[in-house]
Amino acid sequence: MMSLLNFVLFTNYRMRIYRLISLKEKREAAFLMAASDPWLKLGLGPASCLKALGVPFRETYITKAGGRISGLVTITMYGTFKGYIQSLFVADGFRGKGLGEKLMGFAEKKIFARSPNVFLCVSSFNEGAIKFYRRLGYAKAGLLKDFVIKGCDEVLMRKTKGPLLSGKRSRKL
Ligand SMILES: CC(C)(COP(=O)(O)OP(=O)(O)OC[C@H]1O[C@@H](n2cnc3c(N)ncnc32)[C@H](O)[C@@H]1OP(=O)(O)O)[C@@H](O)C(=O)NCCC(=O)NCCS
Repeated sequence: MMSLLNFVLFTNYRMRIYRLISLKEKREAAFLMAASDPWLKLGLGPASCLKALGVPFRETYITKAGGRISGLVTITMYGTFKGYIQSLFVADGFRGKGLGEKLMGFAEKKIFARSPNVFLCVSSFNEGAIKFYRRLGYAKAGLLKDFVIKGCDEVLMRKTKGPLLSGKRSRKL
């Protein structure tokens, strides 16, 4: 449950988003994620979450309230799916207040400045998150059957501003 202090901080603060750098904060983030679905349901414990947060070329950004991590978003700008949101998490007690949407807005601004697509995967059982992403303009782009564990599919979703190449450039190819 959100403490009174956190409630006051959350409702009054000008939300600042920081780059996640320190191992201490990475550990805190990993424990929070591992205690929450979808990571819990997928059997991804703190060690897996910590490893995922430490992968080179991924950038994680966090919000804090009362000195604790209240939310995070991890993006990667490399690979086939350039502009991929690897994880999005809002701590229990801060959910349903617009923080997830703000973190997504922050990530999208960074990605759309460099690429016309934002990609993400969401577990098929995570219906609340699927609804949330649809509301933000994401559409299903594919289904990865039994991707993380057997019996759980991952829905690949995309929000796009257009093709990778402009019409003029692609005609030359
Ligand atoms: C999904 C999540 C990031 C949304 O963040 P949020 O701050 O709660 O989202 P917002 O307040 O901006 O928007 C609320 C919407 O989120 C959706 N939502 C999904 N899970 C939710 C939850 N546990 N509590 C509240 N809202 C939730 C609802 O559709 C809600 O829409 P509504 O207001 O029309 O009911 C957050 O609930 C979360 O961290 N969930 C656990 C981790 C997770 O599922 N991450 C996505 C992995 S792909």
